[in-house]
Amino acid sequence: MFTTVLAQRDKTQLGELPLDFFAATLSLKKELNAVILAHYYQEPDIQDIADFIGDSLQLAKAAEKTNADVIVFAGVHFMAETAKILNPNKLVLLPDLNAGCTLADSCPAEAFATFKAAHPDHLVVSYINCSADIKAMSDIICTSSNAVKIVQQIPKEQPIIFAPDRNLGRYVMEQTGRDLVLWQGSCIVHETFSEKKIVQLKIAHPEAEAIAHPECESSVLRHASFIGSTAALLKYCQQSNAKKFIVATEPGIIHQMQKLAPDKHFIPAPPMNNCNCNECPFMRLNTLEKLYWAMKNRSPEITMSENIRLAALRPIQRMLEMSV
Ligand code: 13P
Ligand code: SF4
Repeated sequence: MFTTVLAQRDKTQLGELPLDFFAATLSLKKELNAVILAHYYQEPDIQDIADFIGDSLQLAKAAEKTNADVIVFAGVHFMAETAKILNPNKLVLLPDLNAGCTLADSCPAEAFATFKAAHPDHLVVSYINCSADIKAMSDIICTSSNAVKIVQQIPKEQPIIFAPDRNLGRYVMEQTGRDLVLWQGSCIVHETFSEKKIVQLKIAHPEAEAIAHPECESSVLRHASFIGSTAALLKYCQQSNAKKFIVATEPGIIHQMQKLAPDKHFIPAPPMNNCNCNECPFMRLNTLEKLYWAMKNRSPEITMSENIRLAALRPIQRMLEMSV
């Protein structure tokens, strides 16, 4: 468990941590009747302390089902917002409120309203990686694990806007043969993988399988023998006969891959810059210390207007109904 040296964790900007920090975190969780939901891109220590780890769809489902009074969301803002939309009467905490998302930010509400108005006969399918305001303007929400399935359920003659991720949108177009009107947003992490370095890795490790998240550009996806959401990638590498994988998504997932397939080897796909791996700077703003302080202070809390919440709830519920 806990891979970080405790001595490094004795003090944070928020104050002194108790000596028995891990025990104190668990006892706070019990006291609050809290559940810790964590995305696969969180740092390993958070994954190890979480009650539930999952991809965006699994986390939305877990948030919908929980009986806890407090949801501590170890993920980014739009994920915690989704949990709040589904649970208006629960306290939803995000350890660092600055944990945003370039993809969600690439789709501002005002500009999207204009875009939508220019396509009045279109149904709006939005990727869950968007703000509550965008969800409120959408007809159906999807995640990377159900986007293809959801678009396939929409009658062929119905024109569709797909927002905000152009890469996932392009992938869905290829998989469904549908012509979607794409909002031109993207994820800073998945757009930065280097095709050249992935090809070099494939040459250096000919026995390795490259696997990729559909938020990657098509220049990366074309080198992948499997494309899927984080949960699908995790399942794939457990079931595949391959012993080595080049993983083109945020490397936080490799912690679970290594745990569930300890005999296999995982190489994080490198980005175009000089780093060896490609961590999401927003996901990594959450730390175990901030998680402790969030529970201790019952803050930072996710809030939103009831009008927006109700409007955003409808397309999320449609997604949940369409992805059973
Ligand atoms: P999934 O959780 O659907 O795999 O999406 C990955 C992601 O980028 C979340 O921010
Ligand atoms: Fe957003 Fe990309 Fe980070 Fe996911 S990995 S939270 S899509 S910036």
